[in-house]
Amino acid sequence: MEALDDLCTTRARGRQLCETLSFMILRVNQRAWGANGSASATAMEDSTAELEAGTVLLLPELAFRVLLEERVHFSPSIAAAKNVSFDPSTGRIGGARVEGGEQDALAAMLQRFSDSAEALAQALLPRYRGRLERARASFRPAEIAGRKTTWRHDDTRLHIDSFPATPVQGRRILRIFTNVNPEGRPRSWRLGEPFEDVARRFAAALRAPLPFSGELLRLVGITKSRRSAYDALMLQLHDAMKADVAYQEQATQTAVDFPAGATWLAFTDQVSHAAMAGQYQLEQTFLLPVEAMERPGQSPLRILERIKKRRLV
Ligand code: SIN
Ligand code: FE
Repeated sequence: MEALDDLCTTRARGRQLCETLSFMILRVNQRAWGANGSASATAMEDSTAELEAGTVLLLPELAFRVLLEERVHFSPSIAAAKNVSFDPSTGRIGGARVEGGEQDALAAMLQRFSDSAEALAQALLPRYRGRLERARASFRPAEIAGRKTTWRHDDTRLHIDSFPATPVQGRRILRIFTNVNPEGRPRSWRLGEPFEDVARRFAAALRAPLPFSGELLRLVGITKSRRSAYDALMLQLHDAMKADVAYQEQATQTAVDFPAGATWLAFTDQVSHAAMAGQYQLEQTFLLPVEAMERPGQSPLRILERIKKRRLV
């Protein structure tokens, strides 16, 4: 694996663009979670265009500070399954094995992280102000490497993110991750080819769902809202990528280590990714309407609509 540094060139205002054939990472020297107390004006450079082009924004110096009393949460046994989820609109925790005061303390850590992620999104992506919808956050205390799971749930396989139970109806999925591993271990990902290449490769396998099937899924409670044709195609694409063992090995890809103490963000519905190893991560999901983008034509929705020559929401 090539060291990331060998792939990087310095851009204006100290930002570094690291490129391979398959992906781009933009390193930004940001040390504060919000505009207040930012280290320099550099940090506030608008990164919207790069993000929309499928670049991962890496903030190597932006760590989320875990408080001493929060260290007790750092055990895989705190989660019933692989993640603990947190709904910032209600303050409610899901999937935790702990109760009472311990659960309250866990919720407080996730609330603090969620608020920090919101402040960061506001500062880095001024164009999306008032349009980003803050969705769930998660704490991921399980080691990824060697985890037993079905192929569909196996995030060590390259995939794009798509939600089976909570349709997005074309909205973008933007995720902020921070590696809080206390032993200094990285989170190791693979990054794959651009969305349009992935979509074209699997296009023949993507079938429009039957009319009314999306509404039916909602009525029987499988989904929380109507599953649009877009959601159905994105789920099919997610599955087609993961199910194709040859694709997993042969697709253009690069391994990237995100160090402990680093934060990164990407449109994970667009960026082909796989998480190979690592333990202890926090993640905040945002949804964004396609019309709020600087270049909506780069969205998975518009790309799939061009390929399929029909509207999908
Ligand atoms: C994923 O979104 O596939 C997992 C990312 C991670 O947990 O590092
Ligand atoms: Fe994913």
